Amino acid sequence: MINFDELIDRNTPEDIKHAKIDGINDLIPMWVADMDFKSPVEVIEALTEQAQRGVFGYPEADESYDKAVTGWYKRRYGWDVDPKTVLKMPGVVLGISDSIMALTKEGDSILIFEPLYGPIGRAVKGSGRNLIVSDLVLNDSRYEIDFEDFENKVRENDVKMLIFCNPHNPAGRVWNREELMKVGDICLKNHMVIVCDEIHADFVYRGHKHIPIASLSEELKKITVTCTSATKSFNIAGIQAANIVIADDSMRRAVDRYSLTTGAYGLNIMGLVATRAAYTYGDKWMDELISYLEGNIELVKNRLAGTKLKVTDIEGTYLMWIDASSMGLEDPSKFFLDKAHIRFSEGTFFSKKADQFIRMNVACPRSVVNEALDRILKLPEIH
Ligand SMILES: Cc1ncc(COP(=O)(O)O)c(C=O)c1O
Repeated sequence: MINFDELIDRNTPEDIKHAKIDGINDLIPMWVADMDFKSPVEVIEALTEQAQRGVFGYPEADESYDKAVTGWYKRRYGWDVDPKTVLKMPGVVLGISDSIMALTKEGDSILIFEPLYGPIGRAVKGSGRNLIVSDLVLNDSRYEIDFEDFENKVRENDVKMLIFCNPHNPAGRVWNREELMKVGDICLKNHMVIVCDEIHADFVYRGHKHIPIASLSEELKKITVTCTSATKSFNIAGIQAANIVIADDSMRRAVDRYSLTTGAYGLNIMGLVATRAAYTYGDKWMDELISYLEGNIELVKNRLAGTKLKVTDIEGTYLMWIDASSMGLEDPSKFFLDKAHIRFSEGTFFSKKADQFIRMNVACPRSVVNEALDRILKLPEIH
């Protein structure tokens, strides 16, 4: 059994998540999406071995890397991928922004569903494309796509690309087959490209299954760029590595060509070594991690039940999206930072309209989750 209860020391000056905040010496950081768990021992050993060789020249992914990546896709999601269709990049957001630049033109419309991980919308706006937002709809506590709004906006704005996120950060949805087919049909009918950010694909809880949208049909495979990475799954985001799957030859060549003009392409040696080790040896670690996170999520749901903090359904990711609107606060994340010394992500990072939401990262030892809940439950304002 992996000991996810272990409190690891992240107290270094380089650590963003645990960065000090003036006047607070008992901060609980539950914001940025990385985990307070050690990576699998096989990943640590592979990196250590590479470091001890003392050789850090330019790397190239070989057959063992390809086998590890495509083997993971096959075992975990039942997805067959030809290794020749995988571009390597230093990050998923880069894969998204290079796809925008290579596969659309200035002034083209690109649609996203909000709330959504903020840098995606920023990548669209920064590229001189026209950002179109279709808001997800909160039905009871479950987010859904408003297909009518989606399709209308696609038609009205002649949308060329959908940037989709599955599992969705921060809405916590693992889109099911029916929803994916509907999304896919609208994109096919309107000759759109789909860029699907599947960085959270490994964080899927009981009763749900991650389905890569590109795996649904030959037609969808041809119009999809799938952005994947081992970095969230194995807590190696600081070494920056991503695999971008593009089956269509001309689309892949276009993205590859564009990425060569930026200088930001390929993998760094540590990213390559860590990804290969993670995808080769990480199954058991991942399975145990998912059960542990499930326990943390249940704990938060149970202990916050009946309070003014409404937890939305979470089928995937370790990021809980919480509606604090019943508290009537001006700035919920600032309130919890000031009153409980807990740092959450601000809702407005994901949508301007989400100023009453906070996002809680529960990928930390259970004792930390409990301590955070103790502090929250002591606040009279939440009852
Ligand atoms: C949905 C989503 N996409 C992309 C990223 C960042 O990926 P990368 O660091 O590989 O650019 C994150 C990080 O939190 C994320 O949640």
